[in-house]
Amino acid sequence: MKNIPHDNTLDSSISLLLEGYPFLKKRMEDHQTDIFQTRLLGEKVICIHGKEAAALFYDNAYFWREGVLPKRVQQTLMGKNGVQMLDGEAHRHRKALFMSFMSRDRIDDLMGLMLRYWRAYARKWEKMERVVLFDEAREVLCLAACEWAGVPLKPTEVREHAQEYIEMIYGFGGATTRYWRGIHARNVSEKWNKKIIEDIRSRKLEVPENSAAYQIAWFRDLDGELLDLHVATVELMNVVRPIVAIATYVAFSALALHEHPEQVEKIRTGEEKYAQLFVQEVRRFYPFTPFLGARPHRDFEWKGHQFKEGTLVLLDVFGMLHDPEMWPDPYAFKPERFTEWSGSPFDFIPQGGGDHYTGHRCAGEWITIKAMKVALQFLTQEVKYIVPEQDLEVDIHKMPTLPKSGFEISDVQYTGSNV
Ligand code: HEM
Repeated sequence: MKNIPHDNTLDSSISLLLEGYPFLKKRMEDHQTDIFQTRLLGEKVICIHGKEAAALFYDNAYFWREGVLPKRVQQTLMGKNGVQMLDGEAHRHRKALFMSFMSRDRIDDLMGLMLRYWRAYARKWEKMERVVLFDEAREVLCLAACEWAGVPLKPTEVREHAQEYIEMIYGFGGATTRYWRGIHARNVSEKWNKKIIEDIRSRKLEVPENSAAYQIAWFRDLDGELLDLHVATVELMNVVRPIVAIATYVAFSALALHEHPEQVEKIRTGEEKYAQLFVQEVRRFYPFTPFLGARPHRDFEWKGHQFKEGTLVLLDVFGMLHDPEMWPDPYAFKPERFTEWSGSPFDFIPQGGGDHYTGHRCAGEWITIKAMKVALQFLTQEVKYIVPEQDLEVDIHKMPTLPKSGFEISDVQYTGSNV
């Protein structure tokens, strides 16, 4: 049996908080390995890296998710007892509910709403001195997501609810204030979403039958019972919150356009095909998901290393997206590299790997890619703007992260669809 290299500290939790995204990658490089062992929050953790490691991590015969999410992630980002925490048949059954929202027609409906709100917001921006794109994007996405999902939302309430979703997303990696804000935002938002499920169930609120809110409210689990009210609330939030989170990728896309102005013309003339390459490179290049966790549900041996049932195992997502063997010159922004990509479900995993239906891979990956393309088309073909002096640094020691200014633009002109 081969020994797994050890991190030489009693506990690395503080280092993880301080180092952020490169924490795993740095140790993989220091040990010149694809596997090492450390301790986080007092627990032994095995960290793994690479395409074969991802294939292992997503093999349901070895791993499951029970007991994986730390309390701080449940209190902010994910909530309790949602699809992310299920295994086996129970997971497949609940995941099918999420995947039923992902038909081409339903996704096209959502994209239509997004474009409509982008255009309405552009007209508002023409009257503003400076526009923080991230803040505006989260409102656009929240309005579209709520309307699509059957969640009633007045335009006057959008700022508050979009902010709550963002605080949940940005809360889990924070030390104190950011973390507490995340907890508070989840509590407030759960109350709001719970009332929506209650009102649908008591027929006080009518929403379209094909909407996520309706489908979740009336969904029956494997035991034939309606979902517990709290679980249904968490699942409804699992639809709207990550759509709002796409604002992060919109801000990163705008940053990439600004830092690589030659891309603008390529997107305008290259149409859908080039936009696809660009969006993939944004999801590879900019940090979002740092790593993912699972636990073996039985003892096994992999590449001569012993994995014991129940040990926490982390898959190095950020490191894999910046691995020079997988992505030559990984810190260069090169959308064209994706013309060569094989399409493997295990080497490009910004939203998880494996299969969308049978595994835990992100249910909303197709929405994310399409929503980024809609935003890109809008930013490159329907508005003109100036990028004023500002702090655009992306601090990779903070998880999750953003361009510091949120990406400000000024002198916005809405030119319609024929720039
Ligand atoms: C799961 C990332 C957008 C719904 C995940 C996972 C990641 C992820 C890393 C976990 C994969 C795993 O555990 O193996 C992202 C990112 C997004 C995004 C970076 C873009 C900002 C979306 C959207 C939706 C969505 C738009 C829905 C409309 C879900 C759900 C799961 C999930 C329901 C749980 C899947 C399961 O456990 O089976 N996402 N996601 N996500 N995502 Fe996303």
